[in-house]
Amino acid sequence: MKSRFRFKIILCLAYLLLSQNLSHDLKSQPKGYNYDESKVPDYELPLLLESDLGRKISTKEEWISIRRPEILNHLEEEVYGKNEIPLGPFKVRTKLLESGDSEFGIRKQYSITFSRRENELILNVLVFLPPKIEKTVPVFLGLNFRGNHTISKDNEVIITQGWIRPGKRVKNNRSLEEGRGIASSRWDIKQILSKGYGLITAYYGEIDPDFDDGFKNGIHGLLNPNRKQQPNSGGSIDAWAWGLSRIVDFISIDEQFDHSRIIVIGHSRLGKAALWAGAKDERISMVISNNSGCGGAAISRRKFGETVKRINDSFPHWFCPNYKKYNDQEETCIVDQHSLLSMIAPRPLYVASATEDLWADPMGEFYSLQATEPVFRLYGFKLNSSWHEKLNRKSRVEKFKQDRMGYHMRDGKHDVTSYDWKRYLDFANHNFPNDQ
Ligand code: GCU
Repeated sequence: MKSRFRFKIILCLAYLLLSQNLSHDLKSQPKGYNYDESKVPDYELPLLLESDLGRKISTKEEWISIRRPEILNHLEEEVYGKNEIPLGPFKVRTKLLESGDSEFGIRKQYSITFSRRENELILNVLVFLPPKIEKTVPVFLGLNFRGNHTISKDNEVIITQGWIRPGKRVKNNRSLEEGRGIASSRWDIKQILSKGYGLITAYYGEIDPDFDDGFKNGIHGLLNPNRKQQPNSGGSIDAWAWGLSRIVDFISIDEQFDHSRIIVIGHSRLGKAALWAGAKDERISMVISNNSGCGGAAISRRKFGETVKRINDSFPHWFCPNYKKYNDQEETCIVDQHSLLSMIAPRPLYVASATEDLWADPMGEFYSLQATEPVFRLYGFKLNSSWHEKLNRKSRVEKFKQDRMGYHMRDGKHDVTSYDWKRYLDFANHNFPNDQ
């Protein structure tokens, strides 16, 4: 009897474990999409080093004056949209709201207020700095998904009043006190601060709430209320990238920060925004794409995991309307995602994938980075040719600290882990030695 009871418990536990895994897989790998490398269609990537008129680009001067502006323009026209937010005059005010000691260093909270006529929008910026600061601090800047208070257990962090996507510790689209620290595993503040870097974050929904309302809310509503949607109008990814640049404005004039070491990082949709911000804003000294997938680092022509049609159908507000032309026709677009990555060159660029994150097409993220090499080569930087071989080894956890292009494929799921942060910190130290 006893042993039958034990057997039942084991069965129940096994069922629970299995069903959790299954539902995770179903959520993270929706049915009806390709997850099989052998079914990836043949494709040709748009050439980075040939101008629209067929001129070969062979020097960095030609890249800067001819080809780079062409590609940036295509990315604006066809994918992310032209930034049309700052139409008309608006004011920006930055205020230190609070500062104090935190578990691993110093905490400072600022508000950046954007105002136009009698309306305003407030972006809360949270800063963590190492405990002992002798000189200016290099910083990682990344938007967060659920509010500043979720990245650490620090009780003083202000809880956002903004609209939050439904989820854990959220009620009626508002953040709850119980949400403190729920995303802390993604932000290894201890490790970052102990290596001498600062961390700056803000909640992405305060810039543009992540739902499709015809661009009435967030920064669009404030600064461009009469917007008429054009085929090349910027969407939410463009707005989040715009917000990152406004925080870069603040970092660039504040003397506590090292203006030559502003590292922008983003995970998933916020990785897409980080790359787009880095493409447009050359004050950003290094960009990290963590599992950014479709519309981020991954090659769209591979049609592996999430496709252009699916992302446009599920998130119609993320890209510009023109991007919908490429639903089921990725191969007809004048750019692909390696074009986006190439905009970061010659600044250090790190792309990270995870083995089980098939929705984001880990190999497509790698091939995309690899395809940017010709541009980095114009500046004398190259990729190590043994990368691919290493990727196919049994254990996928590999690190690559090559000049300006970094990559790793971590074992596991779509996430940001302390392992990822370790790689980013190593890469940052490699490119920006701390004795600067
Ligand atoms: C969805 C979406 C992805 C995105 C991800 C995220 O899975 O399809 O494109 O990267 O959400 O941001 O979490």
